[in-house]
Amino acid sequence: MIIFEKENGIFYLNTKNTTYAMEVAEGKYLLHRYWGKRLKNPLDKADEYNYMRRCLVPADINGKNSDILPFEYSTWGNADMRIPAAEFTFSDGSRVSRFEYRDYNISSGKSGIDGLPAVYCEAGDRVDTLTVRLEDTLQKVDIVLSYSVFEDYDAITRSVKIINRGERLLLDSALSAAVDFYGSPELEIMHLDGTWARERYITRQPVRPGNQSVGSRYGCSSPFHNPFIALCDKNADEKHGNVYGFSLVYSGNFIAGAERNPYNGVRAYIGINPANFQFVLESGDSFQTPEAVLVYSANGIGEMSRIYHRLYRTRLCRGKYRDTERFVLINNWEATYFDFNEEKIVGIAKRAAKIGIDTMVLDDGWFSSRIKDDNGLGDWYENRDRLPNGLEGLAEKINSLGMRFGLWFEPEMVNPGTELYKKHPDWILHVNGREPYEVRNQYTLDFSRDDVCNYITETLCGILSRANIEYIKWDMNRCMSAPGSAFWSGERQGEVMHRYILGLYKVLETVTQRFPNVLFESCASGGSRFDPGMLYYMPQTWTSDDSDAVERLKIQYGTSVVYPYSAMGAHVSAVPNHQVGRITSFAMRCNVAMPGQFGFELDLNGCSEKELETAEKAIKDYRKYGGIFHKGDCYRLCSPFDSDISAVQFIAEDKNTVILTVNSSKATPNAPDEYIRLEGLDESACYRCEGTDKCFGGDYLMNVGWYFVNNSENKSSIIILKKEN
Ligand code: GLA
Repeated sequence: MIIFEKENGIFYLNTKNTTYAMEVAEGKYLLHRYWGKRLKNPLDKADEYNYMRRCLVPADINGKNSDILPFEYSTWGNADMRIPAAEFTFSDGSRVSRFEYRDYNISSGKSGIDGLPAVYCEAGDRVDTLTVRLEDTLQKVDIVLSYSVFEDYDAITRSVKIINRGERLLLDSALSAAVDFYGSPELEIMHLDGTWARERYITRQPVRPGNQSVGSRYGCSSPFHNPFIALCDKNADEKHGNVYGFSLVYSGNFIAGAERNPYNGVRAYIGINPANFQFVLESGDSFQTPEAVLVYSANGIGEMSRIYHRLYRTRLCRGKYRDTERFVLINNWEATYFDFNEEKIVGIAKRAAKIGIDTMVLDDGWFSSRIKDDNGLGDWYENRDRLPNGLEGLAEKINSLGMRFGLWFEPEMVNPGTELYKKHPDWILHVNGREPYEVRNQYTLDFSRDDVCNYITETLCGILSRANIEYIKWDMNRCMSAPGSAFWSGERQGEVMHRYILGLYKVLETVTQRFPNVLFESCASGGSRFDPGMLYYMPQTWTSDDSDAVERLKIQYGTSVVYPYSAMGAHVSAVPNHQVGRITSFAMRCNVAMPGQFGFELDLNGCSEKELETAEKAIKDYRKYGGIFHKGDCYRLCSPFDSDISAVQFIAEDKNTVILTVNSSKATPNAPDEYIRLEGLDESACYRCEGTDKCFGGDYLMNVGWYFVNNSENKSSIIILKKEN
């Protein structure tokens, strides 16, 4: 998998279908050489074509000038004046660094990253790791680049450790990965953007001259941009073209972008956002970046997504629920909001149990003075007016219906009126002397502090030990502002936003490890922290607060560019929909939610018998086919961003069952014929359509397609095709 060809000084990292190559040029410069389709022949040594041309800025490489040297990990002030991957301020005030290649190590397997989530490998996986050490001899700083090659998954993970052996320094930026592309005048950049209630819409535009980036400075990965970009050929689509994905396993401030120079060179990069970031490294200290996951596909965006799905579902998500069937839950939030008591919750659960729902989740409002969203967060004890028998008593009642009991928490927050805040006003993110900002009437607890993290860990663990709670929805409902800490010294304030995320990860690790039987779902005002970092601790995320079936078509479709459907919490809610007022059929709401982690978000006592029958059947179907949605291969066939129709196909792991989901956002009068061409089928096999006596050839379905009339009866369907041998 990893070869170092000594004669030319070239490292080759080979997965099943891809090659990534670097070269030690002039014995000292580690240059990026290639990433793409697996190479059959070795590369020549880098020459002028690769790195010595058209300079304005004099710099040294063997006496020649260059301002575009394709450093594998560039730092400021050298023969590469583009976006640096790392920047320093040294004790003498200088900011220029010069890192030269020193040595390398190849080992089998992959170890974890201290304090940070990361993709892992299991016994039997073909994974090797390369570390390359670069050194700045003057300042005595090492940069250790790590590359793990997941041969069968076709993915490469990268992270960086910066070790200071010299005098105290300031680390001003430290990205996780940067990759240069040569001769790429027509590359496009794709990302997932949005806002609350319309997260992760697919956006794509040409890589323009200069620098362009997406990112977050909100303290969470945010609903505005996702920590992911892909560079792709201008004509790349779901099935065709070169696509290079960069995904960051991190839940805080990130930046991801591309810089194009005048010579058709493009540098793509991803990592922690340098905005409001600065780390003090004393002599002997080191800094570890989050991990970037690089996926190349020669066959379009769809293949890139399937690689991410498989890797994240099986080698990023962990724990008991990684591979097992999860819960069909009902959540009371949209059913009651803050207006509930024990009786109401039990009433919702009773109706739900009758149709096969297995988990009742009590959302916001069960604790202390929380009767609306302006108080209570931080005082995590039951409101006995609402829950006279406490959580224990309620859990018992829910359990006696044959259901599990689940609970909502928002542990990272505090309302100003609470006992917790009165006792510890210093425990919030704030800057001394400045009035802290409230968002949704709440402050963010300072998770960069160990005392805060320990307090929250013990509080949560206490509640989880006391009542029979088998599911937790871990919410986070505001972005950070004025993110200062009373704990850290003035010179370390630039560390606070990253340290917050490290603190959060520590709390999550402890709580999830102590309660391995609890299923955790992450949430942040819906999908504001839908990122790989969170998936390491919690295998599913509430995809969006927008539960409208039509809006969800886009949100889930966009989310699936990187994340598997098994990671997407998706619920059937009431109509008119609470976010957009739209009325959709009960069947469509079930069909749209079913490929995700299926659940309900309404009081079924208000549903008609027919709707309950539809729900009951959907739950049965889900139990039968959920594994195919979650573990099968996903193909996006028609994009809701391009037309009224959204079609997504899933092929079971054993390839014998194919599920086609087709949904239309609006019916068309006297509609034109639509043929939806399936993918990945066995062209010589026949596929029988369940519930009918119709049989279709695989070649027919892939070349002519599934006939779909976009009329009012037919707006939403789930078609099951069984392969006949
Ligand atoms: C957030 C979540 C919702 C709900 C509310 C409760 O907005 O996304 O699902 O839990 O908080 O306050």
